Amino acid sequence: MTPDQVTLVQQSFAKVAPISEAAAVMFYDRLFSIAPQVKPMFPADMTEQRKKLMATLAVVVNGLDRLESVLPAASALATRHVGYGVKAEHYPVVGAALLWTLEKGLGEGWTPDIAEAWTAAYGTLSGFMISQAYGSPQAAE
Ligand code: HEM
Repeated sequence: MTPDQVTLVQQSFAKVAPISEAAAVMFYDRLFSIAPQVKPMFPADMTEQRKKLMATLAVVVNGLDRLESVLPAASALATRHVGYGVKAEHYPVVGAALLWTLEKGLGEGWTPDIAEAWTAAYGTLSGFMISQAYGSPQAAE
């Protein structure tokens, strides 16, 4: 990721922060609609899950300009996900749901540059998490 892309991701995420609850609802609705097979992995009550996801995304996004500070936590997160039944192939579909949510949440503020920056950010994070959890970055996008 270029420094400009880091800035674009941080600025666009800041715009979604005020609607983070609604964004998380949209994200999981979208995820379960494009990948219904992952729904049984999640708890019935998603209230806490939504908060945890948005809090973790905030930490990662804020840490993009000093990536080494978030990598240990991202590695541990990836390992915990193996225990939830998550496979490498699930990461791209989660990325697609995330980008879709940001696009809807930002409306006219969503630009091709921002899309590219988020694609790079999610690709970096998911590629790292996949390599930590499964040993190779086969589905890193
Ligand atoms: C960059 C990608 C991801 C981030 C930042 C993320 C974030 C989180 C966080 C913060 C939690 C709370 C529990 C914990 O910290 O261990 C969690 C749980 C979970 N995530 Fe993810 N996740 C990611 C990718 C995925 C993917 C690809 C899947 C596949 C469907 C997934 C499915 C789950 C499930 C099933 C749980 C456990 C729910 C439960 O039993 O409470 N996550 N995730």
